[in-house]
Amino acid sequence: MRCFIAVECPLEVRERLSLVQKELSGLGDMKLVEFDNMHLTLKFLGEVDAGKVSDVSDALKRVQNNQFTLNVRGIGVFPSLGYVRVVWAGVEDNGLTAELAVRVDDALRPLGFPPEEKFHPHVTLARVRGVGDKRKVVEFIGGRSDSVFGSYIVGKFLLMESALSPKGPKYKKIAEFTLG
Ligand code: 2AM
Repeated sequence: MRCFIAVECPLEVRERLSLVQKELSGLGDMKLVEFDNMHLTLKFLGEVDAGKVSDVSDALKRVQNNQFTLNVRGIGVFPSLGYVRVVWAGVEDNGLTAELAVRVDDALRPLGFPPEEKFHPHVTLARVRGVGDKRKVVEFIGGRSDSVFGSYIVGKFLLMESALSPKGPKYKKIAEFTLG
């Protein structure tokens, strides 16, 4: 099954992000991430044999990491403003999400999952097929580089299944792991 490891976004943060999505959707041809699907990916595992999922879960149980505060703030894009393919909300976290992601990497390396080379914590809002007026998009993103969407305490992370379908991915929680 296709798996990834994620941190949830609370309802009130997703509500604020969904307002941005609504405004954004008028600027081009894009697929908005569904309200229930908005999250922050710590690591994408790809296809994992069903028999290996419990090994992954056992390894993740051993991750030791303190709870931390995360501020969801600012809108940005991948790969660049000149070629927008993904629009996301950023986080301010003193590097603590990246620390957790390194611990997740370390836990899973013995199982054959390579560590992430470049980890950039973000909450994906939209996958863009094409934009109308490029200047409007640049203006929209630039005007929201400091927008605040809420802060919360990250007290757990999740192992998730992503089942792909023509209607979009369907995410299902496999296991959750409490932070200290
Ligand atoms: P994204 O939000 O940055 O697009 C479930 O599919 C999650 O895993 C998504 O949130 C996505 O991150 C991430 N993901 C999907 N495919 C990926 C890939 N090939 N490499 C890295 N991350 C991926």
